[in-house]
Amino acid sequence: MIRRYCFGRVFETDAVQKKPEAQAGALPYFSVNEEEMSLTFSMEKDDIVYGLGENVRGINKRGWMYKSKCSDQPHHHEDTQSMYAAHNFILVSGKEQFGLFIDYPGILTFDVGYTDLSVLKITASDWNLDIYVIEGENPRDIVRQFRALIGRSYIAPRWALGAGQSRWGYMNRDDVREVVRQYRSLGLPLDMVYLDIDYMERYKDFTVNEERFPDFTAFNEEMKEQNIRLIPIIDAAVKEEKGYPVYDEGIEKGYFCTDENGKPFVGAVWPGRSLFTDMLNPEARDWFGNQYKVLLDQGVEGFWNDMNEPAIFYAEDRLADSLSEIAKLAGTQQNLSIEQFREFMGLFSSLSGNPDDYRKFWHDTPQGRFRHDQVHNLYGYNMTRAAGEAFERLEPDKRILLFSRASYIGMHRYGGIWQGDNKSWWSHILLNLHMMPSLNMCGFLYTGADLGGFGCDTTEDLVLRWYALGVFTPLMRNHAAFRTREQEPYQFKDIDSFRRILQLRYCLLPYLYSEYMKAAIDGDMMFRPLSFDHPDDKRCRTIEDQLYLGNELMIAPVYEQNAAGRYVYLPERMKMLRWLGDGKFEETVLEKGDHYIEVPLGDVVFFLREGHLIPVSSGGQCEAEVDFEHVNTLSFGEGAQYEYYHDDGVSRNYEAKENRTILRA
Ligand code: GLC
Repeated sequence: MIRRYCFGRVFETDAVQKKPEAQAGALPYFSVNEEEMSLTFSMEKDDIVYGLGENVRGINKRGWMYKSKCSDQPHHHEDTQSMYAAHNFILVSGKEQFGLFIDYPGILTFDVGYTDLSVLKITASDWNLDIYVIEGENPRDIVRQFRALIGRSYIAPRWALGAGQSRWGYMNRDDVREVVRQYRSLGLPLDMVYLDIDYMERYKDFTVNEERFPDFTAFNEEMKEQNIRLIPIIDAAVKEEKGYPVYDEGIEKGYFCTDENGKPFVGAVWPGRSLFTDMLNPEARDWFGNQYKVLLDQGVEGFWNDMNEPAIFYAEDRLADSLSEIAKLAGTQQNLSIEQFREFMGLFSSLSGNPDDYRKFWHDTPQGRFRHDQVHNLYGYNMTRAAGEAFERLEPDKRILLFSRASYIGMHRYGGIWQGDNKSWWSHILLNLHMMPSLNMCGFLYTGADLGGFGCDTTEDLVLRWYALGVFTPLMRNHAAFRTREQEPYQFKDIDSFRRILQLRYCLLPYLYSEYMKAAIDGDMMFRPLSFDHPDDKRCRTIEDQLYLGNELMIAPVYEQNAAGRYVYLPERMKMLRWLGDGKFEETVLEKGDHYIEVPLGDVVFFLREGHLIPVSSGGQCEAEVDFEHVNTLSFGEGAQYEYYHDDGVSRNYEAKENRTILRA
């Protein structure tokens, strides 16, 4: 059952597709303090708070303060409060059990037992909230109801579940060719190579650098002959440059966000001084979406939308003010006192992502003119919506790959997300795992993290361990930052292990794709905390490093350096599968309870539940080589059967009955 409560003047975010009538009575479970603009719930000792999508910390969010505020956070760690997304859904499980979605595009704070261990307090920056309370039989049922409310998740083409290689620093065609040559000659399966900002002409959206990537259409064809798709990045901000058609037209039509006086707001991002398309103006959104056609026409079939929090390196006037302050400081004397030095450093560090700058520009929407900070969390959502809606117009019969960095619930209908700029840290493997179920709750199914870590130098063991998790996530992409250590599998010694893990991915593709599609169409979770399936098993309620994948598998990756294995808790009898390569698995039946399992570096183990089976293929070098029609099965126990989803992987006829068949052992 879903009930809706309305407070203040609600901004229509389109997160929810069909709104139930607003209730008149008091909001259940919470005490409401309008003056303080807060909602408070008293937590019992054993209550779990799930949710909040992309965020730091555990699957159980208790014990920290989170802020829904889409932020460029490449240095996120435990004490970060906001990441790239704003996902205002929580699920309380304990004495009381309910889901709560706050549809509000400004900044929200979730104090989940931070100030007081037993208090959950949600504070808004404005009293204009649309609140949904969802009750159900169990957590999974609550999530299903919520997902039905917010609409079907974006569906990626099947090839996008293949492996992808990315790096900020592939400068030209030859760099890309070399990546593909290495992969193919070493027998490492691959489907996608990502193009970062250097493919553009001076970071201008919807352009291709003629010198580095001449005849881009022919290059796309050349790649497709090798079953590789090129996936270019698109940034949110548009370069300010007369003669650049996107800029000229945007100015002429008044499609950019404006300052208080109605002049286009200028902030700097990769292209230098840039403007921000008013994604909340439907006409501007359509216009921005149509721009993707330039690349679709050259053979591109997928995109990643970036910097759409939106990130602002500096705003025009703040830079001017800071420079004059710096000149004053530097002008007075040769040596800076410690106070002056701090002021000096502060002037630099406050340039980027400054909250004041987000109050300096405005959106002209059909609902009125809004200062950006009031609708901040909708920006990346609507950039991706611009693209998603355009693809429905421009390519109605074909799925286009699309995922974004910033997001809000509602955007899950238009694209997936990657989990932002992470680091080559062991803790970020676990964070990747934690976010999978939390994101699934919010409708984000096509997701994964930058494997190997984006920022800082990685190590071979870290990449191998991360791959052993990434092999299960729908988005499986190795990506790294400019000037960091190169981390394509072939940069390391143990290529055999990388090859084996990548082969496993393609062997599991029929199952992973089937689970992904069923989760999208049925509004279900592909990854679940163990407690969702065993609500009465106390141990399961505390497990933060194992997940169910579909109804069939449990995963428990190793995420500690120099570990030879790990402990796992089995809530029921399972068959442990150790991938040996060449289509073979070592199979060991393990009883319910605790086990120490050995997992040498390069190995992947996972667990099959009793009475279940999964479809597997004999693999391939790319998705096109995988036989989805004639699959083998891996099973445990008598009478196991599996509902197998299988379609052509590219068209949009998702619901056809013949897409589902029953497989038996
Ligand atoms: C941002 C993106 C990252 C990309 C970089 C350069 O930091 O998150 O993935 O490589 O910009 O475009």
